[in-house]
Amino acid sequence: MCGIVGYIGSKDSSSIVLSGLKRLEYRGYDSYGFCFIDKGKASIFKRVGKIDNTEKEFLENNFKGNVCLAHDRWATTGLVTEENAHPHSDCKNEVFIVHNGIVENYKELKEKLIKEGHNFKSETDTEVIAHLIEKYYIGKLEDAVKNALKDVRGTYGLVVISTREPDKMVVARMSSPLIIGVGEEEFLVASDPSAIINMTRQIINLDDGEIAVLKKDSIKIYKEEKESQKNIETIDWDIEQAEKGGYEHFMLKEIMEEPITIEDAMRGRLLEEEGLVKLGGLDSVEKDLRKINNLFLIGCGTAHYACRVGKYMLEEYADIPTEVDVGSEFRYRKASIKNNSASIFISQSGETADTLSCLRENKEKGILTLGITNVVGSSQSRETDAGIYTRSGPEIAVASTKAFLGQLTILSLITVYLGRQRNMSVVMGKRIVSELKKIPALAQKILDNKEEIKKIAEKYKDYKNFWFIGRKYNYPIALEGALKLKEVSYVHAEGVAGGELKHGPLALVDENFPTIAICPSDSVYEKMISNIEEIKARKGKVIAIATEGNEEIKKIADDVIYIPKTLEMLTPLISVIPLHLFAYYFSNILERDIDKPKNLAKSVTVE
Ligand code: AGP
Ligand code: GLU
Repeated sequence: MCGIVGYIGSKDSSSIVLSGLKRLEYRGYDSYGFCFIDKGKASIFKRVGKIDNTEKEFLENNFKGNVCLAHDRWATTGLVTEENAHPHSDCKNEVFIVHNGIVENYKELKEKLIKEGHNFKSETDTEVIAHLIEKYYIGKLEDAVKNALKDVRGTYGLVVISTREPDKMVVARMSSPLIIGVGEEEFLVASDPSAIINMTRQIINLDDGEIAVLKKDSIKIYKEEKESQKNIETIDWDIEQAEKGGYEHFMLKEIMEEPITIEDAMRGRLLEEEGLVKLGGLDSVEKDLRKINNLFLIGCGTAHYACRVGKYMLEEYADIPTEVDVGSEFRYRKASIKNNSASIFISQSGETADTLSCLRENKEKGILTLGITNVVGSSQSRETDAGIYTRSGPEIAVASTKAFLGQLTILSLITVYLGRQRNMSVVMGKRIVSELKKIPALAQKILDNKEEIKKIAEKYKDYKNFWFIGRKYNYPIALEGALKLKEVSYVHAEGVAGGELKHGPLALVDENFPTIAICPSDSVYEKMISNIEEIKARKGKVIAIATEGNEEIKKIADDVIYIPKTLEMLTPLISVIPLHLFAYYFSNILERDIDKPKNLAKSVTVE
């Protein structure tokens, strides 16, 4: 995601949009940029990095203009460079745009536009929109924008200004948030209220498919040629809350973004009809991957648990022997790396030293290195031979939540990709792809039930120790659930394979040591029930994560959190969500510093 601010009115906009853009840097800070139109002339200023680094230089330009748009970039397409920073413009530098989202079909659009004589300045997907507007412009900016967006497949929060009509601003929304602030003879546009709350608390929420045409003293909003009647709402949040989208903590905001994170990770990558997936980031190594006969998945912390889920997926559905390890240990091993090996590194930040050190060692050994990361232009993304971005947007809370869902989604896609290169049938490919498409809605169902999970966290708030148990695909989820709880609440929690309980851990179980048992109705359900019986026989309390409709489980578990049914391979994308919410609510009851837990850092760039 990124941050967008726009202004149209009678005031000089420079300080207004600068302060607004600073408030949005949590949404993306790879680069930033402005375009001002003053007396029909456009001035652009773009820099890589955070605003603070070059604010003085910006201010020295003393930009003027009462029409302006500004952008903080979180790169999804195209490296972090000044050319790729927004705003982007058309060939003649008369149309200027900022964009939040992903243009899935930008490659084909760009090829077509180049053939039609357009010259591109950047490698971003966004720039194609500016050239489409140029192509369709015949006198009304809003009509050119409307026609341009008919060619676009993907998501956008888009703000457009032009020297051709310097008193107008056009705003369009599809999936990426945009609000319009209503002032006295002025309008502001922003990705969220934090950017404009000090100017106005009167806002209009733009809905998907709507296009707004703003002048300093007029606003019209259309949807499919019809004018929309919109209510003006009043923001009653303070600034800090507004940056968190109204949530108390970034961690909760990011958990609530898990459905859209899964959707964004899949966007433009599913070929359901053929039962295939399209992973452009692997095109360059597609042939090499056909020869791979063993894999290493390396990551740390939560990313390592994603590796563990990936192991089950890849061995079961792509039939590739897969080893996993944490970055800090893999480097000490003399792992038997045969020919035709490949290693996949998973890292939200792409800067974790323990993971990078293994990546560099693997490269020295000539092993094919792939990466799954969230940060475009990160060290990992630049050093692996190929890779795929999770597109999860900035993850601010130290505890990784939505990024984990992005990683699991990409691993599901890679499983289909490699499986269909091997023996996975079209039918199975189609089945996994069509199930994957349903996951965001299933994930949302769990979030809609968050109050139930909050109640259970309150019920167990006085316990000082927890077991998390799971088997097969949900053993890594038990590990992740335990990590999330302990790193945010500072209460002891440990994940263990269900089958391992009787080999020692059971000794700790009594009425003061509850267990969270992840036991969806899958191939290991009966074994998990045996585990629960073992625990109950020692007076241990059990919170079961079970498949909705399973009434039997209520007879043995003390509490049940239901999750929707899906393919066993995709269950981790569902079963982890209640555990993220449980960790959040439990820690909030204990009044912990949830977004910045003691002793931890968001990205551990030391070994
Ligand atoms: C997870 O909540 C922790 N913050 C931590 O384990 C984290 O997953 C680990 O440091 C790896 O970070 P990365 O994904 O950026 O490499
Ligand atoms: N896809 C665009 C880019 O990579 C916009 C990214 C964003 O939403 O910040 O520049």
